[in-house]
Amino acid sequence: MNQSARFWDWIANRYAKQPISDEVAYQKKLQITREYLRPDMDVLEFGCGTGSTALIHARYVKQIQAIDISPKMIEIARVKASEQNIENVAFKCATLDDLGTSDQAFDAVFGLNVLHLVPDKEEAIARVHNLLKPGGVFVSSTACVRDMSLFFRIIAPVFHLVPLLPLVSIFTVNELKSSMTNAGFMIEHEWLPGRNKAVFIVAIKFA
Ligand SMILES: C[S@@+](CC[C@H](N)C(=O)[O-])C[C@H]1O[C@@H](n2cnc3c(N)ncnc32)[C@H](O)[C@@H]1O
Repeated sequence: MNQSARFWDWIANRYAKQPISDEVAYQKKLQITREYLRPDMDVLEFGCGTGSTALIHARYVKQIQAIDISPKMIEIARVKASEQNIENVAFKCATLDDLGTSDQAFDAVFGLNVLHLVPDKEEAIARVHNLLKPGGVFVSSTACVRDMSLFFRIIAPVFHLVPLLPLVSIFTVNELKSSMTNAGFMIEHEWLPGRNKAVFIVAIKFA
């Protein structure tokens, strides 16, 4: 298990109990996402955490494959799915790299609060692009630390120095958008709920 998985395993129980930090923004993101969902869709969520968002969207699509690097997060997500009797979400401990060669397999991919945590966002975005069918939707929410206040810009690099903490990549919203357009996406929706918040982007793979 790598350092990132160890950290998220360690924090998983507390993460599961934490209230959503901005409920209004969360609900708006759910609503915008829902506008892109159809009952025949195959969806992938990477970095799904304890599965809350996948379980909310499950009733609007055919099936969701929800993956996370942390076994503990996946364990909690499976319990929640079973408690809610939701059977069309398959939770699996994996990263994008583990998905093999299932190219163009999904109608939509969600990457919520995770792109700033992967080692190489360009590689992750290219991988998402490969996994989507032409015209497919990439819904993301990403902390762009380089656009945040001085406190976050100072604290984020410290994460790289402390062995127990996960890596946080530092980039701007514009850099993130460039990575997406360079990979072959068209940005269709962009929303920053406020200063120091994650930017919500819906991007479409060119057909
Ligand atoms: C900030 S949490 C976000 C969880 C959920 N998406 C949400 O919005 O509440 C980040 C999640 O990404 C997972 N994660 C971190 N790096 C990952 C990677 N390389 N591949 C897959 N999951 C990863 C962590 O285990 C954690 O569950």
